[in-house]
Order: sequence, then C-alpha cells, then structure tokens
Amino acid sequence: MGKNTSQFVCQNCGAKYSKWAGHCNNCDAWNSIIEDLVVSEASGKNAISQAKTSGQILKFTKINEITVTSDKERLKTEFPGLNEVLGGGILRGSVTLLAGQPGIGKSTILMQICAEVAKKHQVLYVSGEESASQVKMRAARLGADSDKLVFVSSTSGNDIAKTIREGDFDLVIVDSIQTLAINEISSAPGTVSQITNAGNLIIQAAKSTDTAVIIVGHVTKEGTLAGPKVLEHLVDVVVNFEGDRYGGFKTIRAVKNRFGPTSEAAIFEMNEKGLSEVQNPSAALLAERQNTDGSIILATLEGTRPLLVEIQALCTTTNFGYPKRAASGFDLNRLNLLIAVIEQRTKLNLSDKDIFLNVVGGIKIKDSAADLAVCLAIASAAAGRKLSEEYVVFGEVGLGGEIRSAFRPDQRINEAKKLGFKHAIAPATIRDPFVIPVKDLRSTLIQYVNE
Ligand code: TYD
Ligand code: MG
Repeated sequence: MGKNTSQFVCQNCGAKYSKWAGHCNNCDAWNSIIEDLVVSEASGKNAISQAKTSGQILKFTKINEITVTSDKERLKTEFPGLNEVLGGGILRGSVTLLAGQPGIGKSTILMQICAEVAKKHQVLYVSGEESASQVKMRAARLGADSDKLVFVSSTSGNDIAKTIREGDFDLVIVDSIQTLAINEISSAPGTVSQITNAGNLIIQAAKSTDTAVIIVGHVTKEGTLAGPKVLEHLVDVVVNFEGDRYGGFKTIRAVKNRFGPTSEAAIFEMNEKGLSEVQNPSAALLAERQNTDGSIILATLEGTRPLLVEIQALCTTTNFGYPKRAASGFDLNRLNLLIAVIEQRTKLNLSDKDIFLNVVGGIKIKDSAADLAVCLAIASAAAGRKLSEEYVVFGEVGLGGEIRSAFRPDQRINEAKKLGFKHAIAPATIRDPFVIPVKDLRSTLIQYVNE
C-alpha cells in the first residue's frame, strides 16, 4: 500500500475497474476504458485515525445575514437570448461548462462574449488549443478589440488556477478542459482524472476570487468522451451547444443552472461575422417550404420560446429484408414507437415501408408534443396525400393512440397565428376557436390524410 497504483476508468461515465476491459458494464460503451494512475494514499487505518483529530470548526453565518450578489452584477453578453439561457447573464463567481461538438462554434461565441464583456470588464482568454496569432485572427474577424481583453496560451491547470487566483479578472475563458493537465497527475490530458482535477482547481480559484469562468468541453456526436459528463457535477451551469456543424440553426440550451431556469434556449446562425441570434426562427425555417405529402408543420417549443418547424417523412417500399427506419433531428426509438402505434391503432400497414423522417433546419426535437406531427407526416407520406397548408399540428400520442395534451398551448397557437396559419390540429383539451380538436389518432388520420 501507499505506492502509486493504476486503475482503469471508463472515459464515458467514470466507472472504475481494476483491470482493462473492452466494454463498460456501467454505461455500455465500447473501448472507452483506459488506464489511469491513482495518487498514493496513506494506508487506510492511519488515515482514518488522523482524520478523527484533524479538521477545524466551521464558521457559520445566520441565513438572514448572508449577503447576496445582486443580479445586476451579472455580466451581459451581446445576445439577449443567451443572457436568458444563463439566467440573466453570467453570474460572478459562477463556473459554466459550454459543451458541444468540435467545430460547432464554441470558440467563436466565446470570443464574441469576451468582446462584449471586455468593453467594461477585465477578461482573460486562455486557450490550450490555439496560438496567440490564431486567436488574434478570429478576434479581429469578430471585432474584439479592447485593452481589457488579454490572452494567454497554456495547458497547465496549475498555472491557470494560480493566474485566476492572483489576477483581477471578471471573466476567464478556458478553451478547452480536454487540453489541460496538472503537474501532480501523470496521466495524459483529456483523461477523467486530469479533467476532474484540473476542473476542480479552476473551480476553487473561481469561487475564492469571485471570478466568472467559462470552461469549454468537447463532446462527440454521440455525447461520449469523458470530460463533460464528469464535469457536469462540479460546475454551476452546463450549457449545451447543439446543431449541425455545417449550416443550419444551432441552439444553446442550459441543461443545468444553479442560478436560473433550464427551460430557455437561444437559436443561432453562423455567418462570416461569427454567430448571430436568429430573430424570427419560425419564419426562417418555413421560408423554403414546399407543401408536399409527408410535410407537416409542427408548433413546438425550444425552451419556452415557440417555434414552427417542418417535419418531413418519406415512405418507400422495402425492397428486401427488414424495413428501414431512419430519423434526423428526432429520436429513433420514439419514431419506432410511433410507427408501432400507427400500425396497431389505425391499421395503416407500414410493415413493407422504409420510413425516413427529417426535421428541417438542423433542429433537434425533444418535445413530446411532436408525436402527432410525426404520425401525420408518416401517414401523409404513406398515403401520398398532403395536409392543407393552413394547419399546424401539435399533441402527444399515447400508446393507445389517444392524443394527449401539450404544455404551453397558447404560445404555440400564438406563434402559428403570427405566421398566418388558420388552424391547429391539437388535443381536444384546448378550448380555442383556432384549434381543431382531435382525440385519437385513428379518426384524425381518417379525416385528414385518408386516400
Ligand atoms: P469554432 O468556434 O472554432 O468551433 P469550436 O471551438 O466549437 O470547435 O468554429 C467553428 C466553425 O465556424 C469553423 O469551422 C469556422 C466557422 N466560422 C465562421 O463561419 N465564421 C466566423 O466568423 C468564425 C470565427 C468561424
Ligand atoms: Mg475551439
């Protein structure tokens, strides 16, 4: 005991093993387990008996005497939507994890945030990925030009934490956590132990100096790769940057926020001047619409903001083997479930059809009220009949084929009205003259998309 030993850690979920294995039993990931060195510990008994006498009495404060940092002190970004996602701006002393696929635009949006915040406050941008001149090129392109914005290239967690502790910054960007290492641990940057320990060091430095820190974490398309998952527990705010890397809309949404709501989302578009917030996403998404069979307009919510998105389905005859089902922007399991409901509850035969589903504009739908639109799109494609252009659709579909209520129906309806739609095919629980109430899938399909 007492010497450095190694352990094997799943880089996806952080589960520990005593020997290497190709498959993680905890999270089912393959080839995610790698060797990690454990820092030596004093032998068990000794450590426990020491711990009994060590420690200090904590200084507590009456809850009504604790002073709160006012919301006014939040650092504002130039994007109102993003400020909302963050609960009103970046809170001092908070640590935010910005997670997203490589190339989605994390460094870009952070430089834009820096440019705005540095107009009034002291900002440090630390990059472990890019050199000063590379970052300068991006900064120049994005118009970041302030004496208060300083840059350093470093991959040392120790140095960055010390710089935060000793410096007087309002905001520090660390791009990215996967490149950092601390001296005390010998494993490579990007391993779970490096990410957790470097993350912890930086978080402590941020808390002790009331500095706001944003840490970048890369995730792969499947959401795998160590870091971010482990870090999620340590930081105050986790925002996910999602969407298509090449064109289309990108959304930033909070999945965890200790100081604000997690229901907001901001929608962005990348152009030559960096990212810009999309003012009227519904109109932009519907601009290129062709009303064909299989195309349905869904009134959904992106956070609390209503959004009209086109759902497209394509049905073709299966040539051999099992029918193929594919979805882009929609959960494949949910699609399979809905297909089963359609087959069972409406007797529409889809067993010899390949079904492809697409959500237009790179949007990823997580709203359960998308079910009815998906079912109608499939039925419309299978029957070769289109739905009237005047309708939007929303509602959840249960396993019995019943149509269930959706939350915030008023916002969905208002958005549809704003964009000139005449009616919404929606759950019967909603009392509104705009709504054509529907109760079950079978009668809805017969009425609206029957041959
Ligand atoms: P980047 O922010 O570097 O992605 P990440 O840090 O998430 O890995 O940039 C993503 C892409 O954006 C990159 O391929 C180039 C493109 N881009 C623009 O289209 N316009 C711009 O103004 C900038 C700075 C980048
Ligand atoms: Mg980057």
